[in-house]
Amino acid sequence: MWKIGDVNIDGPVVLGPMSGYTSSSYRDFMKPFGVGLSVTEMTSAVGILNSGSRTDEYLEFDRNYPTALQLFGHAAEDIAGAARIAIDRNSNIDMIDVNMGCPVHKIQRSGAGCVLMKDPVLCGKIVKDTKKATGLPVTAKIRLGNDRNHMNFMEVIRELEAAEVDAVTIHARTKDQGYSGYPDYAIIQGLQDSLSVPLIVSGNIYTLDDAIAAMASTNATGVMVARGGVGDPFLVTQIDEYFRSGRKLESPTVSQQIEWCKQLTDMLIQEKGADAAIRKLRSIAPKFVSGCHRCREYRLRLATGTVSRESLFAILDEIDSKMGSDRINSDGRPSQRFRAMDSTFFMQPPEWMV
Ligand SMILES: Cc1cc2nc3c(=O)[nH]c(=O)nc-3n(C[C@H](O)[C@H](O)[C@H](O)COP(=O)(O)O)c2cc1C
Repeated sequence: MWKIGDVNIDGPVVLGPMSGYTSSSYRDFMKPFGVGLSVTEMTSAVGILNSGSRTDEYLEFDRNYPTALQLFGHAAEDIAGAARIAIDRNSNIDMIDVNMGCPVHKIQRSGAGCVLMKDPVLCGKIVKDTKKATGLPVTAKIRLGNDRNHMNFMEVIRELEAAEVDAVTIHARTKDQGYSGYPDYAIIQGLQDSLSVPLIVSGNIYTLDDAIAAMASTNATGVMVARGGVGDPFLVTQIDEYFRSGRKLESPTVSQQIEWCKQLTDMLIQEKGADAAIRKLRSIAPKFVSGCHRCREYRLRLATGTVSRESLFAILDEIDSKMGSDRINSDGRPSQRFRAMDSTFFMQPPEWMV
């Protein structure tokens, strides 16, 4: 058990925010696997201030587990003001997380996301003003910096600490790396030891061993599961269990994966309606069998042949009848190199963002 401000977090796994993926039903689906803290998809502060209908849907969730609302914006007053409105509308928000790491062009152009890191004093001011406006814990999600020659994460962290930030998440890549290439955990070695608040680390957490290595080298309090958890929810359980008991749990069978995929399908359909959910599932469903050597051609069929709940379930049932007892194993998970390609191919942020 650890704390962010006065919020108790049970277990080290933080479910990473992913625009277009970590909607309310996805977070509800992942929670029982052992998520300690969930973060919403990033939400526009200006959008909330203007009460756009699109941002409103991000605020509507009902849950009984720790959840951070992630906001992006370029001005302290916008973020603080939007946070206040948000918590007045939804009392299920436990804390505010400020996005200081998004590398997407459109977000950068508006002065938000990773651009904020160019002005560490502003980063501090955003945290300070948002804390004052809400009375809730405020956290920040940053990167190493703009590029290899401008890795000013330490300077930003010092300003955040001076503003009494409640936790810091660091995605161990630079803005220029986007979502591909290797995160640099060496440069944040032992970082938790020089911080006064909990540190959460993010970047290429695809297996239990990835999480163990990232936690060991940085001494972090939390570890963020983002792309690695999509189609592999049991990764959360493996990490959670290991850090509680030292036990390494065996990976699930294909049959089990299929059951979870069906469960997520129904939750997404209920939240988003069939059309939107099925479109999303074309990128998510293949990942449920990505650790299965013999499922290669089925992955393609899931990506292209998923046109309705019925067609998706029919393909899943076929896989189950042939490969159900195979075990998803980490050797069968995509290689680091493939992961980057895989993620750019399948896992895009939503259209409005790019
Ligand atoms: C499609 C997609 C959307 C993302 N959206 C957000 C977001 O809204 N806010 C944020 O802070 N990070 C976002 N991220 C970054 C993730 O939270 C995470 O830090 C990053 O993917 C690195 O972890 P991973 O390599 O284990 O996936 C996004 C990543 C992806 C792939």
